[in-house]
Amino acid sequence: MKITVLTYLDSEDENSKDYEAVVPQVAKALRSLGHRVSVLGVHADVKRLIAGLSRRRPDLVFNLMEMFGENVFGDIPVTGLLDLLGLKYTGSGPGELYLSQDKGLTKKLLAFEDILYPRFAVFSRQQAFETGGNLRMPLFVKPLRSDSSLGIGGKSLVHDAVALMERVNAIRKELNDSALAEEFIDGREFYVGVLGNGQPKALPPVEVDFTGFPEGVPKVLDSKAKWDERSKEFKGTKSVLANLPDELRARLQKVAVDAYRALRVRDYGRVDLRLTDTGDIYVLEVNASCYLERSSEFAMSAAAAGIEYPKLIERIVELALERYRR
Ligand SMILES: Nc1ncnc2c1ncn2[C@@H]1O[C@H](COP(=O)(O)OP(=O)(O)OP(=O)(O)O)[C@@H](O)[C@H]1O
Ligand SMILES: [Mg+2]
Repeated sequence: MKITVLTYLDSEDENSKDYEAVVPQVAKALRSLGHRVSVLGVHADVKRLIAGLSRRRPDLVFNLMEMFGENVFGDIPVTGLLDLLGLKYTGSGPGELYLSQDKGLTKKLLAFEDILYPRFAVFSRQQAFETGGNLRMPLFVKPLRSDSSLGIGGKSLVHDAVALMERVNAIRKELNDSALAEEFIDGREFYVGVLGNGQPKALPPVEVDFTGFPEGVPKVLDSKAKWDERSKEFKGTKSVLANLPDELRARLQKVAVDAYRALRVRDYGRVDLRLTDTGDIYVLEVNASCYLERSSEFAMSAAAAGIEYPKLIERIVELALERYRR
């Protein structure tokens, strides 16, 4: 098959070949499976995007586009454009991506399925203040839609209304996003990968091991813990295959699949969960078209299920094609 790997270019130089690690990894896996592969990287040039796709006319686009220009929500309109161009592509479409990106809407859909989520309030800029009420401090304040722990740091956990409003205003101003305040869920953190459409299957859970985390700091994967390799938070956390009793593993996987279906995720995704001391499982967020890097939690959990990297990439291709055939 003729497959185009579509990716965001960090560099403003539209001809740059400076791709994120995941791009050559996916391209290599696809080639090893016998496909004819090209890579199309775009920073912010819509004309170039359309021309590049029209020239290639791929049988399938392997979509790794995470943003567009400076717009961190740009992945959504890009999938809409792929739809308009009549191209088949891997992963979720604009509607599904929007639902899972908006963590307030996500919770409303989870509520309908009786899935637990932290109680919350949305401090939107355009719409009225919104809450189910009955919120208890401390609250965790984060952007409503941005991911990669953007805007999540040492000040995210607030204990009073003044600190709450300071964070809300900072998020609105610095990230140009609405703010979401939710109850802080103390407990173990798990990532569960899910693959499939119709009858999606959960992969083995991965746990975030906080054992080496600095004392007295709330155990959360803030932007330091995720990206600042020199920080104590980064060094103090690692993702490991979760060692769990069968019953608990099954419960985590069931919640993940239920949340994946509730959000209508297509092909593949990852559900972030927290487990409290009392055994309750909360959904923190659903990541449609999650990060696919070889060392990512998603690839790690697939490998634990016996699905090595090239197989995983092949599986995603098959799932996308099956979906279009139906
Ligand atoms: N309500 C909460 N209670 C406790 N910890 C939380 C809560 N919300 C977020 N966190 C912590 O912050 C981290 C990032 O939160 P979240 O997954 O919502 O953000 P994100 O930026 O979308 O992340 P990703 O990079 O996974 O897309 C979580 O992994 C968790 O450690
Ligand atoms: Mg997350």
